[in-house]
Amino acid sequence: MTSSDVLPSSAGGAPPPQPQPQPQRGLIPALLLVALAAALCLGLLLVNQSSQDPYTRSSLALHGDLERGTKLFLINCAGCHGIAAQGLVGPNLHGVSQRKRDPALIQQVVSGRTPPMPKFQPDPQTMADLLAYLHSLQ
Ligand code: HEC
Repeated sequence: MTSSDVLPSSAGGAPPPQPQPQPQRGLIPALLLVALAAALCLGLLLVNQSSQDPYTRSSLALHGDLERGTKLFLINCAGCHGIAAQGLVGPNLHGVSQRKRDPALIQQVVSGRTPPMPKFQPDPQTMADLLAYLHSLQ
């Protein structure tokens, strides 16, 4: 009989390690994911709301009149953007409503942030009419 024939016994030696119950691995990452998703939704909501000030909201809620919007454009904007919005001092505006969302278009008109384009102060209906015109520029 060699020493390798001796089976381990519990007498004296340390007990064989017992398998530990596994912590619920999937739960914590899942909770983190849910928290992250919630934070992201909240962030998007806040960003959205900040671009939706009362003026923007009321302009967007109104139905714009394309004919009036066209006249307004010819009087106020065509000097820079060209009579067919083809671009002059200001850029070509065809397809601009695909490039920029409505709140950004409204900001462009009312903010005066990009000189030489002036800061316009159209009432919400006039803004809605101008938007209708900008939307018509494919
Ligand atoms: C004095 C000249 C001028 C007038 C008047 C003017 N614009 Fe502009 N506009 C510009 C210039 C210059 C830019 C480019 C600004 C920049 O991005 O630096 C611009 C940019 C824009 C843009 C963004 C274009 C893009 O591709 O992002 C829109 C939309 C726009 N104008 C609409 C209007 C409307 C509507 C009016 C009339 C209510 C108007 N503009 C009147 C000069 C003018």
